[in-house]
Amino acid sequence: MIRREFLIGTFVISTFPSSGFSSTDILIVNRTESCGCCGAWVERMTAAGFNAEVNFVSDEVLRQIKSRLTIPVDLSSCHTATIGNYFVEGHVPAEDIRRLLIERPKALGLSVPGMPIGSPGMEMGDNIEPFETLIVFENGATKIFNSHAAQTSV
Ligand code: CU
Ligand code: CU
Repeated sequence: MIRREFLIGTFVISTFPSSGFSSTDILIVNRTESCGCCGAWVERMTAAGFNAEVNFVSDEVLRQIKSRLTIPVDLSSCHTATIGNYFVEGHVPAEDIRRLLIERPKALGLSVPGMPIGSPGMEMGDNIEPFETLIVFENGATKIFNSHAAQTSV
């Protein structure tokens, strides 16, 4: 019995080291079948330690999901994910999502509008386009959450 509890404790510690994740934070990704970069992004997120669940939906359903989450059209990208009560729109780096979950700001979510070359899942050799991760607030206002100047880390 004692041995068993020890094993469970070890498992929890090794799965969630110092990241601040809770086991309930599953990245639920909504994407269409036809778009390949979404899959590449999911791979990057799982490699960074996220538990991802992928829903393949039609363009129409994806549009409905974006509008239900009140993601402004000009901030939208290909895939739309949620984690906890936040949305994660587009090619947001794992480090930004991790920070969101640690800081838990009063906000709707994060967005990397469009599909910047060099963002996670959008790698194209050495081509890197600087991009910003925006935080979106309930009143629709946005602020720069993180700037990715030359190179993204995950
Ligand atoms: Cu994309
Ligand atoms: Cu995509």
